[in-house]
Amino acid sequence: MDIKLSGHQFYYDITSIAMLFFHGEKVNYVRRGSTPLRAVSRLAEKDDRLISFTSIHFRGNTFTSQKTAPYDCDRKNLVKQTFYIAASRATGISPLWGILTGIRPLSVYARLALAGDTPQDIMKREYYVAPQKLDILSSIYGFQQAHIEKRANDVSVYVSIPFCPGKCSYCSFISVSAVNNGGLLESYLEKLYLEIKAKSELVKALGLNVKTLYVGGGTPGVLSENQLESLLKILVECFDTTGIEEICFELGRPDTVTDGKLAVLKSHGVNRVCINTQTTNDKILSNVFRNHTAAQYFSAVEKAKKYGFDSINTDLIAGLTGEETASFCRSLNEVIESGADNITVHTLAIKRAAALSGDRANYVPYDPNINKMLDYAYNKLTSYGFSPYYIYRQKNCISNGENIGYCKGDKLCRYNVYMMEDIHSIIACGAGASSKIIDGGRVERVINVKYPTEYVNEYEKVVNNTEKLRLKWTELKLKRE
Ligand SMILES: C[S@@+](CC[C@H](N)C(=O)[O-])C[C@H]1O[C@@H](n2cnc3c(N)ncnc32)[C@H](O)[C@@H]1O
Ligand code: SF4
Repeated sequence: MDIKLSGHQFYYDITSIAMLFFHGEKVNYVRRGSTPLRAVSRLAEKDDRLISFTSIHFRGNTFTSQKTAPYDCDRKNLVKQTFYIAASRATGISPLWGILTGIRPLSVYARLALAGDTPQDIMKREYYVAPQKLDILSSIYGFQQAHIEKRANDVSVYVSIPFCPGKCSYCSFISVSAVNNGGLLESYLEKLYLEIKAKSELVKALGLNVKTLYVGGGTPGVLSENQLESLLKILVECFDTTGIEEICFELGRPDTVTDGKLAVLKSHGVNRVCINTQTTNDKILSNVFRNHTAAQYFSAVEKAKKYGFDSINTDLIAGLTGEETASFCRSLNEVIESGADNITVHTLAIKRAAALSGDRANYVPYDPNINKMLDYAYNKLTSYGFSPYYIYRQKNCISNGENIGYCKGDKLCRYNVYMMEDIHSIIACGAGASSKIIDGGRVERVINVKYPTEYVNEYEKVVNNTEKLRLKWTELKLKRE
């Protein structure tokens, strides 16, 4: 797709809007477009006002949109708006998140609410966000206002276990097979314990309060009972967990869950577990190479219920290859019936590094079935007493969908909110782990090496990162005093 820009240089933003409508097209910025699908986006000044004009040539016809605005308006939004309208006229679709690309919807909502504006009106008028998405944002904002507090010295701790029983076709997370790499897993844990000790000493020296602890993956459920015992013992010995709000352990795939492992988690104070199925349709589970059944999921949740964890989370994905709306809705109903009190509904993202990215061309940018699934999830879950409590969006989600965490009553995952909304800093351990220092609106990241082999063989890089973190924190503390 050729695009000509005139009077502005918002290449990235125009590309992101174009991709909502013309998914899979490669965008070339040119002086004069010649491809069958082509566009012009122009920004000009006239009489102290700005005029944004877009024309899109699509399937032999030309579609246009024009808007004028005050000189001091948000120029980027103005050019995105006319591109969105012209593309919508050309294709007949209206992506529900409007022109909100590359920005977290809740942060726009919160900024407007804090400024005393009416976010719903403004986001509908200026960002073209659909009413059902605005209702969700309003609920999430209200929920977080009621449940989340910000304190300068609070941190959360994340521990990464990038090992899995196998590789699901849709997943691009870095993880290695625990089945074929038992030796690597052992060496990984040895190094991980060193990093946990070093980071916990840093937390103590800086006088930080650990609010939540999250062990995630990968599939931390692949650890044996003995490995779990050692990891959790070290974690609770190193970090002061008296008064901690949450210790969450992402078991992950249900076929890893045993009574023995659940007993170890419970005995070390874990109060929230994640047991995921993504769908309860066995055929789809097999299509995406998850290699477990819905029956194993139900049985794992039944087992976990006996141990009295405060909350059990389950992840679902809308849009898995071959899954129809009715099958997704059935999965959701069955997960609610199973007793999960925290359900995260993801929209399938087509990631380059995932095995199914070869199917990219088969996905349409706007599949009304995905919206039906997401609307069904919202209506069903809220009618069963669940509230949406956090949201994030990713690139290349089918139908430009989103990921939303729902919880019953107050059974939210606090770590998810703290991390996603940058409420406080994150101290992260393990391969691929990303520590974040939050200083007001500024976020500084210190990221560990990606792969478990690098983590084991180049552990000195991890030591350097801990040192970097110490220096950045010390600087921040001096600034605050
Ligand atoms: C880091 S993964 C770990 C989950 C765990 N290993 C499991 O499979 O049960 C967290 C969640 O991300 C979601 N996820 C992974 N790949 C995705 C994709 N391509 N699109 C949408 N959601 C995805 C899944 O719902 C998954 O449970
Ligand atoms: S979805 Fe979970 S189990 Fe599957 S590959 Fe990704 S992290 Fe591993």
